[in-house]
Amino acid sequence: MKIGVTGATGQLGTLVIKELKKRIPHDEIVVLVRTPEKASKLGVETRKFDYSNRDGLTDSLKGIDRLLLISSNEIGQRAKQHLNVIESAWKNGVKWIVYTSLLRADNSSLSLAAEHHTTEQAIIDSGIDYTILRNGWYTENYANTIKGAVEGGAYIGSASNGRISSASRADYAEAAAVVITDESHKGKIYELAGDDSYTLHDLAAEVSKQSGKKIPYKNLTEGEYIEALKSFNVPGPLAEAIAGWDVSASNDDLYDGSKQLSQLIGRPTTPLSESVREALKKL
Ligand SMILES: NC(=O)c1ccc[n+]([C@@H]2O[C@H](COP(=O)([O-])OP(=O)(O)OC[C@H]3O[C@@H](n4cnc5c(N)ncnc54)[C@H](OP(=O)(O)O)[C@@H]3O)[C@@H](O)[C@H]2O)c1
Repeated sequence: MKIGVTGATGQLGTLVIKELKKRIPHDEIVVLVRTPEKASKLGVETRKFDYSNRDGLTDSLKGIDRLLLISSNEIGQRAKQHLNVIESAWKNGVKWIVYTSLLRADNSSLSLAAEHHTTEQAIIDSGIDYTILRNGWYTENYANTIKGAVEGGAYIGSASNGRISSASRADYAEAAAVVITDESHKGKIYELAGDDSYTLHDLAAEVSKQSGKKIPYKNLTEGEYIEALKSFNVPGPLAEAIAGWDVSASNDDLYDGSKQLSQLIGRPTTPLSESVREALKKL
């Protein structure tokens, strides 16, 4: 049995490989990566694999039984890229695709949802067995902004009082490894998120508590937040996307109370306090 993993040189993929190595013989893991040099440290079979090179994907999935398709990070290009991968999986007789999607990709207001939903549908329509892991927000998305908040003396955003159920990449990675090594998950669509939810006010309060500095959360209008991000040299389109995601968060699109992630991994998800502690250590 061979399990292929795309995006294995990324932050999530690296953690998935670490978890898979604990569970199955290493010669059953094949990483499918755009940059093979980056994969040498993973210590498993490596094949060159670029989502956007449709012709180049022809034989790359030969002998792969199960495929973990970690979504591409090239926003706007990825539905097309993922379709290339699904076509190659079909041609090569892959029996099961596990895909990392987005929380409630079928009805989320997040601008990211459409490409994920298109991919989900294409996988289902291919007739290949599937499992969809609809991953919620990574806590690291916020943890990475803590430095700026501590230096600037305030946490800014447009999420208002929206509740966010994020989890760490390590939590989602473990779930992916659990799922792809157990066929009982075939045909399921999981909504994955952290056990606990918080608002950005709560996040700022936690940062204040742990850093010993008063860091209030300042809620901005979408337009104000875009301008603030641009003033920190965030390119315009990205600033608009980030602010838009916060507006979606204000509508609770990053909230989920089902605790399916902790059920899959058999332990509580990483608490916000721990992620903040880790982020503050790096300052
Ligand atoms: N839930 C969330 O909060 C959240 C946040 C950010 C991203 N995401 C999604 O989750 C995915 C994994 O997250 P991450 O943190 O691991 O992202 P990441 O660190 O940016 O890794 C992305 C991976 O995708 C690979 N990739 C990009 N374009 C490719 C292409 N054309 N062909 C083959 N491989 C390609 C990259 O390869 P290289 O190493 O060669 O660049 C890398 O391995 C992201 O790609 C994105 O879709 C989710």
